[in-house]
Amino acid sequence: MARIGVVGAGYVGLTTAACFARLGHEVVCADVEPAKVAALSRAEVGAHEPGLPELVGEGVRGKRLRFVLGNDEALSGVDFVFVCVPTPTGADGAADLVAVHAVLREARDAVRPGCVVVLKSTVPPGTAERVAGVLGREDVGVVSNPEFLREGHAVDDFLRPQRVVVGAAGPSGEEAARRVVGLYEGTGAPAVITGSTSAELVKYASNCFLAMKLSYVNSLAELCERVGADISDVTEGMSLDDRIGAAFLEPGPGWGGSCFPKDTRALLSAAEDARVDFPLLRATIGTNGHQARRVVDLVRSAVGPLRGARLGLLGLTFKAGTDDLRDSPALAVAALLAEEGARLVGYDPCVGRDCGPVRVLASAEEVARDADGLLVLTEWPEFAELDWPALAGAVRRRVIVDTRTLLPVDKVVEAGFHLVTLGRRAAA
Ligand code: UDX
Repeated sequence: MARIGVVGAGYVGLTTAACFARLGHEVVCADVEPAKVAALSRAEVGAHEPGLPELVGEGVRGKRLRFVLGNDEALSGVDFVFVCVPTPTGADGAADLVAVHAVLREARDAVRPGCVVVLKSTVPPGTAERVAGVLGREDVGVVSNPEFLREGHAVDDFLRPQRVVVGAAGPSGEEAARRVVGLYEGTGAPAVITGSTSAELVKYASNCFLAMKLSYVNSLAELCERVGADISDVTEGMSLDDRIGAAFLEPGPGWGGSCFPKDTRALLSAAEDARVDFPLLRATIGTNGHQARRVVDLVRSAVGPLRGARLGLLGLTFKAGTDDLRDSPALAVAALLAEEGARLVGYDPCVGRDCGPVRVLASAEEVARDADGLLVLTEWPEFAELDWPALAGAVRRRVIVDTRTLLPVDKVVEAGFHLVTLGRRAAA
């Protein structure tokens, strides 16, 4: 079993640390926030991530997982250092590597000979090669090992991954890459060993491909509305072709979250730096930018003038199964509605405080009271099970815009609602 240091106890770092501890390794996880380190040491996990609190608790109790303030311990005395610090969008859309570089400067003098430095943070192609140069330690291996963790499924995705991708940088990289693959023994995942630049690109290429699939479907949904087709029927027909597959074909208010917006911009920026024209990627991003406005247009057509209208938003997080509001398309829609003078109330099973222009209430029923229109913005399954006749009695006007093709059309229409769904003709 290996001694592993994880730098950064965010959602990726914490999942990495807890899951490696579960796989039997001895893990030290470092963060710079005292309150976070103290809470995690008591096995209190802030984020909503199924299975993660249990895993952290198990690791802490079993003494295979420790949380420390500052990076020293996670760098010295370990066999592997996983760099899991944020790489937000910086100026001009490129990934901002300030946090990564700061860790590497510390690592230069701290890591022991034979140690492997693993970049798990999403970084632009070529970063690991450059890092190996900056680190300047021939006795230390550098590899890229991107994560493919979905929020809400992170533990499962880590422990039962569809693939482990490890990219070797520098001369000693390949041996180091094989050692990193060894850490995942027990997950049963196929490993792909590549050069580090290819590994870095696998991450961006995968996320951008998925975003492209969604932008494609969102445009297709708009076309379906115009020509009288049904997007669910169209995607069902498409999905039976193995080459297309069924995943990531649900239209929505736009893709969001902490990865897709950042990664699409970063890949475009990397392409520009390399003087490669990538119109497909530009269109993928542009189509998504148009999506919130399109939802607002649908709401305006269904509800009428928005100034002073009371609108009830069902769902605020960027997708179901998470409490994450970062780059949430629901909030992009809310901002535009507020600009037009709508009064917004909202309910989300994972959000307990007001968000920008949205006053957050405790239930869907409260949101419906006196509403001039309801919008489904996140695909929380419980919204499909609401008591439609009761809601019909509570609202001022029976109008619903379902941006997630989630609601049971028959029941909603039977309760007297006018239902507008992305990718379909309006019902009743
Ligand atoms: C994503 C990648 O899936 C993961 O591999 C990567 O490492 C991190 O980024 P995540 O950000 O958790 O994970 O979200 P994901 O489940 O991929 O959804 C992204 C966005 O697409 C969400 O806004 C979601 O609502 C939207 N989406 C997804 C759709 O609109 N329709 C779909 O059919 C699927």
